[in-house]
Amino acid sequence: MKNIVILVSGSGSNLQRIIDTIDSGEIQKAKVSLVVADRDCYGLERAKKHNIPTALIPRGKNFSSELAKIIPENTDLIVLAGFLSILKPEFCENWVGKMINIHPALLPKFGGKGMWGHHVHNAVIEAKEKESGATVHFVTTGIDEGDVILQKSFKVTENDTPETVAEKVHLIEYEIFPIAINKVLSS
Ligand code: GAR
Repeated sequence: MKNIVILVSGSGSNLQRIIDTIDSGEIQKAKVSLVVADRDCYGLERAKKHNIPTALIPRGKNFSSELAKIIPENTDLIVLAGFLSILKPEFCENWVGKMINIHPALLPKFGGKGMWGHHVHNAVIEAKEKESGATVHFVTTGIDEGDVILQKSFKVTENDTPETVAEKVHLIEYEIFPIAINKVLSS
């Protein structure tokens, strides 16, 4: 059994998808052992409903060091599922190859500091992109720069708005996240 720690900052619909696909067996031989948030958010409620241990560490300069203290020793993978704080380089270096993130665009496009959630979708519409998508990648010390594990795109039409792009991105995320997690856990 592989132990996964999940970091969240918001609604946690990707967290829900991971919990559900572990329950359904799509993600194999894994367990969410802890959910950590950097702010009060619905993701914590989702975890509690499934009796998953939770922790809230307020965002800020001590986040990474406090997180390091509570990560269970037997953790195989840390998954950033809509997590918005930047982790310290020392923390990232300790988890190379064992920490992944989902990003709501086709990296390397629309990544880096300040590129999260609606900022990404606004930028995609403003740039009149013909496609967008989602990317699961390894976390390194460079923001959104780690190797891509899985990426899938969809067409952006003239009628799309940042809101419709966000919806389409979420559907792609729900599809690729479990596949990417299986891939990393079995490698
Ligand atoms: C997701 O679209 C995820 O890609 C994005 O936040 C959303 C969280 O949704 N993450 C980032 O922007 C990180 N740079 P959720 O809370 O419903 O899973």
